[in-house]
Amino acid sequence: MRRPIIAGNWKLNLTIAESRQLAQQLADSLADITDRDVVIAPVFTALTTVAGVIEKSPVQLAGQNCYPQITGAFTGEISPEFLADAGCTHVILGHSERRQLLGETDDFINQKLLKTLEAGLNPILCIGETLQEREAGQTLKVLDRQIKGGLANLTAEQMADIVIAYEPIWAIGTGKTATAEQAQQAHSFIREVVLQLFNPEVAENTRILYGGSVKPNNVDGLMAEEDIDGALVGGASLKAEDFIRIVRFAG
Ligand code: 13P
Repeated sequence: MRRPIIAGNWKLNLTIAESRQLAQQLADSLADITDRDVVIAPVFTALTTVAGVIEKSPVQLAGQNCYPQITGAFTGEISPEFLADAGCTHVILGHSERRQLLGETDDFINQKLLKTLEAGLNPILCIGETLQEREAGQTLKVLDRQIKGGLANLTAEQMADIVIAYEPIWAIGTGKTATAEQAQQAHSFIREVVLQLFNPEVAENTRILYGGSVKPNNVDGLMAEEDIDGALVGGASLKAEDFIRIVRFAG
């Protein structure tokens, strides 16, 4: 059985004081959680503060991005080593906002992923199609390219540390969730591609999260699908009550 993961991507929101407050609410309310992973990704400037708050709780910390170098003359960048130093166990890579706004390519994301593994962190690799691609019948082709590009040069052993997040771009921040069936269809395809790339055991064990307008009222239906192993939550992760309900999905 795959252990579920619920991750909150706070994006560019919440000051240090606001982050501390939300993290404290989560640490207090989720102290009893043992059967699933809970991860939050604050802005970089709040990482160490939040790390201190959640230290003795089951809640884990993620960076929202990193650069594929360890240290050196890379002004304005942050490396997986420095994220680990700040208390992170995970890092979100290849989010569609970065692919779209900052032009990140599959190859660049793959370099980040390999460096992240070297630093001992768990990458959460985001993939997903645009509305235009879906309407043109390109969804599976796009996912195939993003998975193969993102996971290039990886060994089957390294796959144990990877989490994949399927986030259809048309469902992000729009309130338009993919139906549970649409999400399941994509997830099952993703698992098939992982099988082609590696082996049945890796395909069976790889956790695949769904992201895109996950809310308290739709999480249970999504999590009931066979190949949906968790959620990557944006907007609803900024409200303690909503995120706690999502973490406590029925299932
Ligand atoms: P929303 O939950 O706000 O749609 O965002 C999803 C997302 O992009 C998480 O990474």
